[in-house]
Amino acid sequence: MINHTSPSFFIGNIPITGRLILAPMDGYTDSPFRSIARKFGSSYCVSEFINGIDIAHGHPHLSNKLTFSDCERPFAFQIFDDSPDRMLNAARILQRRVPDFIDLNMGCSARNVSNRGAGAGLLKDPKKIGRIVESIVKALDIPITAKIRLGWDETTLNYIEVSRILQESGASLISVHARTRRQEYSGSANWSAIGEIKNSVHIPVIGNGDVKSVEDAKHMMSQTGCDAVMIGRAAIGNPWIFAGTQRDEQTEEERFRVLQEHVDAMVNEYGSKIGVVLFRKHLTRYLSGYLVTSEIRQEIYSIEDREQLLDNVRYRLSLTKL
Ligand SMILES: Cc1cc2nc3c(=O)[nH]c(=O)nc-3n(C[C@H](O)[C@H](O)[C@H](O)COP(=O)(O)O)c2cc1C
Repeated sequence: MINHTSPSFFIGNIPITGRLILAPMDGYTDSPFRSIARKFGSSYCVSEFINGIDIAHGHPHLSNKLTFSDCERPFAFQIFDDSPDRMLNAARILQRRVPDFIDLNMGCSARNVSNRGAGAGLLKDPKKIGRIVESIVKALDIPITAKIRLGWDETTLNYIEVSRILQESGASLISVHARTRRQEYSGSANWSAIGEIKNSVHIPVIGNGDVKSVEDAKHMMSQTGCDAVMIGRAAIGNPWIFAGTQRDEQTEEERFRVLQEHVDAMVNEYGSKIGVVLFRKHLTRYLSGYLVTSEIRQEIYSIEDREQLLDNVRYRLSLTKL
């Protein structure tokens, strides 16, 4: 595990140590996964995005998204919405749960989010972004940060304008997934745009997009000068990345130890059956590199009991390594 000592940068007055951060991923980065990533060295944690409408009107699964533990700190709730008033309301309500800061989602490319003007949809209206951030910064006494993309599409690349507006409105940090809304996850991330943003603002800039290893993270930082790197997809089933290694470098015992810690944390969080079922998507990644045929996968995926799951996985890990 990495033991960082002096701060690498600050979010407002919050010292941040280390330069690798687990990216928020809806459906994956719940409190159990974030806690494990933080333990391995993720510098801070951000919740899955939370809909401002759900904060205002309630939602059956909202309470899961609001759970976090002290070991995740510094911790931020992330809000998405298209309405400045609802975003302000959500930020006020979430502040009562004592996060260290609040992150505003201005990068989600999902159609049902961005087409309603939320997430990356906000990039179409930089002035609205300024109003949203200014009002929340004024109303709250914790730092406000934002996560953006480069623009709506290749003809409207407004990341420099948006970044300057964010800074002028009082945002304490910008994370940037270096793609446009139109690209969604296709093509490759444009890291040089991260460097342009870093040269245009004085608040910390977190680079994000296509980082698959610690070497990639180092390249992104040296190429762009960004303060830290967010890692999303490459961290699923691979929390070791925050300690500077990779899943493939681990012994079977270590893979099994962390996998078990993860499933136990999920059982603890959601109860035994739902915890095991929700863990399946992580399991696929933990077992990546092992001979898991579709029959075996189906067999493992039909298990709803923790002991049975772990026995089966233990067997796969020790006997069927490629
Ligand atoms: C399944 C999934 C869910 C995501 N959910 C969120 C989210 O809730 N909030 C957010 O800001 N970004 C979200 N993202 C985007 C990631 O944070 C990140 O910007 C993107 O995956 C690019 O980084 P990567 O190449 O390291 O994966 C999500 C991405 C994925 C794949």
